[in-house]
Amino acid sequence: MTETPPPAVLPAVLPERGVPSEDLLAELKANRHDDADWRGGRIFGLVYNPDDEALEETLAAVGREYLAENALNPFRFPSLARLEREAADMVLGLFHGTPGNGGLTSGGTESIMLSVYVAREVAREKGIASPSIVTGITAHPAFAKACHLLGVRQVRVPVGPDKRLDVQALAAAVDETTAMVVASAPNYPYGVIDDVPAVAAVAQERGVLCHVDACLGGLLLPFWERLGEDVPPWDFRVPGVTSISADIHKYGYSFKGASALVYRDLDLYWKQWWFDDGAWGGGLYGSPTAAGTRPAPPIAGAWAALRSLGEDGYLRLATVVRDVRDVLVEGVGRIEGLQVTVPPQLSVFEVSSDELDMEAVAEALAERGWYPDRQPGGLHLMLSPIHARVADELLQALAEAAAEVRAGRTGAGAEATYGATLPAEGATG
Ligand SMILES: Cc1ncc(COP(=O)(O)O)c(C=O)c1O
Repeated sequence: MTETPPPAVLPAVLPERGVPSEDLLAELKANRHDDADWRGGRIFGLVYNPDDEALEETLAAVGREYLAENALNPFRFPSLARLEREAADMVLGLFHGTPGNGGLTSGGTESIMLSVYVAREVAREKGIASPSIVTGITAHPAFAKACHLLGVRQVRVPVGPDKRLDVQALAAAVDETTAMVVASAPNYPYGVIDDVPAVAAVAQERGVLCHVDACLGGLLLPFWERLGEDVPPWDFRVPGVTSISADIHKYGYSFKGASALVYRDLDLYWKQWWFDDGAWGGGLYGSPTAAGTRPAPPIAGAWAALRSLGEDGYLRLATVVRDVRDVLVEGVGRIEGLQVTVPPQLSVFEVSSDELDMEAVAEALAERGWYPDRQPGGLHLMLSPIHARVADELLQALAEAAAEVRAGRTGAGAEATYGATLPAEGATG
C-alpha cells in the first residue's frame, strides 16, 4: 500500500472539462492508497498473477489489441470466435473432453449460473416443473445465487470430518425434482476435492446431470497430476460427469473475466444458447452467456495466457505453488497451537486452532501487514506463485501472532467474510 494520500474527495459528477491523461492517471494512482498489496504477497485470494513480468506485458498488449471489439457478434469479429473456440478446446483437452463442447464465460459465477440454467432446461424438458440441484454445504455461494436467480431449489448436504461432501446424504437427497448434483474440485473453504466418481455414479444411476465445479482447481489439477501429486479422478475421465467449470482467470493466470464452461456432450452446450426469433424487430439474436455485449480482452487474454504459458509454463508455476504449499503446511504444523484443518490436496487450506482465538491471531497478523482471508473456522490461505517469495516471512509472522494470542491477546471481533473483513457492530478502527 502506498503512502500517497488520495484526493480529498473524488469527483462524483462529470467534470465540466475533460481531465488530462496525466492528471487522471495520477488521481487514479493516489486513489489506490488503501488497496491490498498483492504484489507483496500480503493477501491470499482475489489475485493469482504469477511473478512474471513478461506474461503481464503480453497480456496487457493483448488486452489493448482488443480494447474496442465486441464478442457479441461472431460474424463481425470472427477472430474472437476463433480465440474463444481455441481457448475452450485447450481446456477441454486438459480435461479429456471433446473439442467444441463448450465456451468461455466472464467468470466462475457465470459458468456456475449457466450450468444450473442448462440443468433447469433439461429438467423442464423431462417435465419437472420445479427443478432442484443437490450440492455439498461447501459448494461455492455462486450455486445459491444461481438457484435464486433461476428459481431452482438448492438442497445442501453436509460434509464429513474430511470436509468432503457426504455422498450418502447426497444420494438420499436426490429425488424426482433433482436436475443436477454438484461436486467441487476442490471446494473453496478447505481446498479438498469431493469424491467425484461417487457423486457422478449417483448421477448416472439416477439419470441426472453432474457438474464438477473446478473453478478454483481446474487449471492447476492437470499439472498437479503431471507432477505426480495424488489427484483423485475428477474430470471427463469419470463416467457420469456432464459439465465442468474452470476459471482461466484463477490458476490459468489470465486477467479477470475468463472462465471455461465445458460439457461432455455437445447437446448440453447447445442448451446454454439463447436464441431470440427476431420478432422484436432487430433481427435474430443468439447468445451463449448471460451478457449481451461481451468484452473482447478477457477472451483474447485467456487464449493468450494459455498459449503463452503452455504446458511447460503451467508445470513450472504448479511446481512453485506446490512447493510453497508444502513449506507453509509444514511450517504451520510446527507453530504451537495452530494446525491446518484438513490436509490440503491443492494450494488452498484453512489454518485453525483448538485453543487459540483465530480472530485475535488474524488481528495480530494484520498489524504485521498480512491479510489472509478470515472464515468461521480460521484463516483461509489461497496460494499464488508470488507467495513463494514470502513464505518464511509469513511463517515468522504467524508464529509471532500465535505467541501473542497465547500470551493473552484477545480479538476485537470482526465478522468472517469472503475476501475482506467487516468490523463487528460497535467495533472501531
Ligand atoms: C470453488 C469456486 N467456485 C466458484 C468460484 C466463483 O468464481 P468467480 O469469483 O470468478 O465468480 C470460486 C471463487 O473463488 C471458487 O473458489
